[in-house]
Formats: sequence, structure tokens, C-alpha cells
Amino acid sequence: MDILECIRTRRSIRTYTDRPISEETLRELIGLGVKAATGSNEQPWGFAVIQDKDEIQRLSEETKGWLLEHLADYPYLEQYREWLNKPSYSVFNHAGTLLLIYGDTASHWYAYDGSLCAANIMLAAHSMGIGTCWIGFGEHILDTPEFKRVHNVPESYRLVCPMTLGYSKASLPPSERKEPRIFSWRKA
Ligand SMILES: Cc1cc2nc3c(=O)[nH]c(=O)nc-3n(C[C@H](O)[C@H](O)[C@H](O)COP(=O)(O)O)c2cc1C
Repeated sequence: MDILECIRTRRSIRTYTDRPISEETLRELIGLGVKAATGSNEQPWGFAVIQDKDEIQRLSEETKGWLLEHLADYPYLEQYREWLNKPSYSVFNHAGTLLLIYGDTASHWYAYDGSLCAANIMLAAHSMGIGTCWIGFGEHILDTPEFKRVHNVPESYRLVCPMTLGYSKASLPPSERKEPRIFSWRKA
């Protein structure tokens, strides 16, 4: 797929087939992710992978519980109250693969670098017929000291992007976007 076509047609995918993503494919995607630009060439990213549907489901339930308990602290969550209360709603969309991109806070640029890495992976995955979705809801549960201890993530790393991946069931139309606000454009 041509790169421009890939950028134009990528969508967040929330329905996946049962076909698993192989370790080889996921390693290839991570390898493409780390080709992203990186501040001072520090390459501060690190990854954790969960390919266990039962564990992903358990993490979804834990996340829903946490979010419902903290609705008052995060006003933006109110719009999702109904979803979060639905037993059938999976925060991770029943994906078979959850890829967590962490950034080493020792680098000033870790959040930017991790985000660029995520964008590379999203686009590369799309070109392979693999759907992705950044799951911001995961930011709390997947960044705790306990979670990081279990998954060997060093303390200095913070979660940048929790991403679900799976072969896309849906074929969505290209996204609609608001007109970009261009604040100024000085010409000679
Ligand atoms: C920082 C960030 C957090 C997001 N969090 C969630 C999330 O928790 N759950 C979800 O279903 N989608 C999430 N998304 C996906 C957005 O909803 C999606 O990108 C947006 O609606 C535009 O749709 P598109 O990606 O198909 O163009 C997130 C995207 C970003 C960049």
C-alpha cells in the first residue's frame, strides 16, 4: 500500500477476527516502530506484550472498575459512563494482542518518541491488514508499580501508549476531520 493511501485510510479498529498476530509479525511491527524520529537519538522506548485473551479480559474488568470509581476525578469520563457499566463492553475490544509502549523518563522526549513510535506501528499494521487502536483508558491500570513489576518494566519508564492489535474485521471509510486551524502563515 502506498504511504499516502495508508495515512489516508488508517482508522481505529475495534473489531478483530480470531486470527492471532504471530510473534514474527509483532516483532516486525515493533522494529518499524523504532524507526521513528527520536529526540537526541535517545530511543527511550520499551515494550510489553500481552497475547493472552483471558488476561486482557481481566485487565479490561480491572480498568472498568477503576474508571467507574474515579468518574468524579476525570470529568471527561462521564460521557462513557453507560459503556463502562455494560458487562459486554471490553475496554480492549476483545483484542488478542495488547502492545504497551513505555518511555524512559530519563529522556526529556520520551512521550513524543513513544507517540511517534506508536504512529509508525499503527500505519505499518494498517498496511498489513492489521487493525490497531490506542486505548487511553488503559493509562491507569497498566502504569502502576505493581503492573510494571510483574511485566519487568523498569521504574523509570512511564506508559505512553496502550495499543490493541488484531486482524481487522471492519473496513471503515476514511476518517472525517475538522478543517485544520492554521493560526498564521507569514509570507514574504
Ligand atoms: C491518546 C488517545 C487515546 C485514545 N483512547 C481511546 C480509548 O480509550 N478507547 C477507544 O476505543 N479509542 C481510543 N482512542 C481512539 C480515538 O477514539 C480515535 O483515534 C478517534 O476517534 C479518531 O478515529 P480514527 O482513529 O479512526 O481516525 C484514542 C486515541 C488517542 C490518540
